[in-house]
Amino acid sequence: MNKILITGNMGYVGSVIVQHLRKAYPDVTLNGFDYGYFSHCLINVPQLPECSLNNQIFGDIRQFSDTHLEGVDTLIHLAALSNDPIGNRYEDLTMEVNFHSTMRLANLAKLAGVKRFVFASSCSVYGFSEQGPRNEQSPVNPLTAYARSKVRSEEILKTLASSEFNITCLRFATACGISPRLRLDLVLNDFVASAVIDKKITVLSDGTPWRPLIDVKDMARAVDWAINREADVGGAFLVVNVGADQWNFRVHELAEAVARAIPDLDISLNKNAMPDHRSYKVNFDLYKSLAAGYQPEQNLETTIKELKDGIDAMGCVDNWDAGKSFLIRLHVLEMLRNKGLLTADLKWKAGGK
Ligand SMILES: NC(=O)c1ccc[n+]([C@@H]2O[C@H](COP(=O)([O-])OP(=O)(O)OC[C@H]3O[C@@H](n4cnc5c(N)ncnc54)[C@H](O)[C@@H]3O)[C@@H](O)[C@H]2O)c1
Repeated sequence: MNKILITGNMGYVGSVIVQHLRKAYPDVTLNGFDYGYFSHCLINVPQLPECSLNNQIFGDIRQFSDTHLEGVDTLIHLAALSNDPIGNRYEDLTMEVNFHSTMRLANLAKLAGVKRFVFASSCSVYGFSEQGPRNEQSPVNPLTAYARSKVRSEEILKTLASSEFNITCLRFATACGISPRLRLDLVLNDFVASAVIDKKITVLSDGTPWRPLIDVKDMARAVDWAINREADVGGAFLVVNVGADQWNFRVHELAEAVARAIPDLDISLNKNAMPDHRSYKVNFDLYKSLAAGYQPEQNLETTIKELKDGIDAMGCVDNWDAGKSFLIRLHVLEMLRNKGLLTADLKWKAGGK
């Protein structure tokens, strides 16, 4: 491995992966490619995560040029409109950015001689299931534009993989944990922030839906595994659930775990809520068997403590609504649009990035 390109590096997960890879591979050329929607959404950092890169490229993945692939042997593709609320608001764009651009990028990468392509997929492809933990052979049931974009991307990537072009689709559990670009539109992160600031957790459902979680640090370890994966470990094309069996939680269990760490909380469950459409347990046996040395290491208590400490250190309690909204992706995009910085199709206007 000589040169890695990581798209979407300026996001919640990418900012942590960059730090991990730089530490693990001090001599490898590490380049980032991002459109910078959330470049300003930083917390508690003495320096930009991008300082660990050799080169930061600013650009729209929809117009990705193969000149950025010169000499690249390993491509980690994270760039995406990356949650359900954004997908519901920008359905067509989600397909364009997440699926069509992935297809184009992978084709360009194959032509350019990239050896390994790692795709950030999601366990949300399982949507809703009451039939036990979902494994990679289970039927997918994507309920949102975001989840559909991941399913379609996996399908097209399968057709491109070969002995020279090794593809790994990591179906990540829902992310949580501290990052220089923290997000509060994720269930555990939201609970911890509400507990620290408001001293209460409001669960929108009755608390029974299942959510498998993974700490961002463990996501970085999984990417590290995937970029080193040989085809005799799982094949030239691999789809694998990434997480840990013991991190399948019901939503109310997450609220209770936060309450153990941050006492005197008021937890309200909505007993009369409509059933949550998204609920699934996930089976991680395949990841356990293929990636024994890269299994998730974090425990829930540590993840909650790190989140609490990070949110405490932000010190924005007096202006929390403003602080909170810049940690919620859809709010950030809408703010950039309201200020006239982004067009309706989420392109930076002239003079922007
Ligand atoms: N966070 C999770 O729970 C989770 C779980 C499973 C999978 N994933 C996947 O992991 C990846 C990273 O997730 P994240 O939580 O860091 O998301 P994020 O929204 O924090 O980061 C995504 C990054 O992609 C960039 N991006 C978006 N559109 C772009 C475009 N047109 N051109 C170039 N860059 C663009 C954004 O600027 C941002 O920096 C995504 O593909 C996501 O779908 C995330």
